[in-house]
Order: sequence, then C-alpha cells, then structure tokens
Amino acid sequence: MKREKPKLVSEDGVRHDGRRLDELRPVKMEVGVLSNASGSAYVEFGKTRVIAAVYGPREPPQRYMVLPHRAVLRCRYHMAPFSTDERKNPAPSRREIEISKVIREALEPVVMSEAFPRTSIDVFIEVISADGGTRTAALNAASLALADAGVPMRDLVAAVAVGKVDGYLVLDIDQVEDNYGEADMPVAMAPSLNMVTLLQLNGVLSPQEFSQALNLALKGVNEVYKLQKETLRNKYLVRVE
Ligand code: CDP
Repeated sequence: MKREKPKLVSEDGVRHDGRRLDELRPVKMEVGVLSNASGSAYVEFGKTRVIAAVYGPREPPQRYMVLPHRAVLRCRYHMAPFSTDERKNPAPSRREIEISKVIREALEPVVMSEAFPRTSIDVFIEVISADGGTRTAALNAASLALADAGVPMRDLVAAVAVGKVDGYLVLDIDQVEDNYGEADMPVAMAPSLNMVTLLQLNGVLSPQEFSQALNLALKGVNEVYKLQKETLRNKYLVRVE
C-alpha cells in the first residue's frame, strides 16, 4: 500500500519541524573530540550526527599508493549500523563508496597535498545518527578535522543541501523532506576560493528553480562556513590579555 504524502510546508511557509524555508537545523560543531587521531571533529545538524577523524600526513599503509609529488588523500564515509531506523548492514555499500569518492573530490582542491609528497592523509567519517544531509555534514566535519590535524589548507569546505518540498525551495532538508520532496541538491563550496567543489541533484528542478536553489545553498554554505571558523577560533585562538 502506498503511503500518503504528508503536508510538509504550511501555506505561510512554515516547515514540519517549525523552521522557516531558509533556516538551517540547529547546528553544533566541535573539534579535537578524539585523542587517538591527528585531528577530529563532531558535527550535528538536527538529528544528523557525524564524527570525522584524520590521520597523517603519514607513510601510507600500502607502499604502492605513494605519489612522488603529493600526498594521497583517502576518505571513507561510513554509516554506523545504529545510525538508521532499521539496522544498516555494516559492510560498505555502493552508496557509501560513491559518497566517499565525492567527499574526497570535494576536499582535494583545498588540501595542500603538494606539501607532503610520498605520504597519505586519511579521513574516516562515521555517521552516528542519520536524518538527511549526511554527506554534507560529513564534509563539514572532515574539513574541520583536517584543520584540527594541522593539515595546511587553502580554505575550509562548507556544505549544505537544499531541496524542493511541496513546491517550495528549502534549506538544509532533513530525512522526511528528502523522502517526500521533489528534489534534493547537496552543495559544497570553498567560499574564500569562490569554488563549488560538490554539486549533486536528485529529482527535478526548472532552470529558474535550479538557480534559486543554488543561491539558497550559497546562503546556507556561508552560515556553515562562519560556524566552522568560529569553532576553530574558539579552540585555537589564544587570547593575549
Ligand atoms: O544523507 P544524504 O542526504 O547525504 O544522502 P541520501 O543518500 O540522500 O540519504 C538521505 C537519508 O536517507 C540519509 O541521511 C539517511 O537518513 C537515510 N538513509 C537511511 O536511512 N539508510 C540508508 N542506508 C541510506 C540512507
């Protein structure tokens, strides 16, 4: 039996969880949360929670991976079996392999890998709780964890997904909005480099809606970027009284 689509946006533009159309979920960020990694970060967007750990630059575990002119960046995105409603199979799925690849490609332009030839920089991301937007939360955490590890970077990568729900363009869609919505578009940027490093679109948008959705994503990305910088500043800025 087909489940009936719930109404997710009211006539006055209020979403099912009380947010405005252009509002992020409550965001929390913290760096240096793990003692055994070179760098780490915890990021929460509502009920989506992820943790990222960075190791390196270090000698690659497998010698064949060595590149003579730069470090190899390796990323693993993984969803914990307890992160979803129904226990997720812990084995890496095709979806996780694909998301790991797009996360790596979204980070590569900002990591100064040329400074560390013949090494690897490894990013492990674990989704602890999934409620939509896990790849964008994962990217935000990975970027913070790289900075926390002291890896030289040209910029941070900040990410958020926009979607179309009940005909409205909305910022930072959650799982219900993703399940019942008409479109889902995760976007990542290196804002200071003015570079979009990830853009995916599932669903259907007109070219006009696409352009409005991109602008909404850029607004969200800048808010996330500000929070990332604040998080790093709070940890690392030493006040000289
Ligand atoms: O998480 P993100 O939006 O980046 O990726 P998605 O593939 O569009 O998945 C949307 C949401 O579906 C995830 O955030 C999870 O909440 C949920 N999901 C799940 O419950 N079980 C899976 N195996 C995959 C996704």
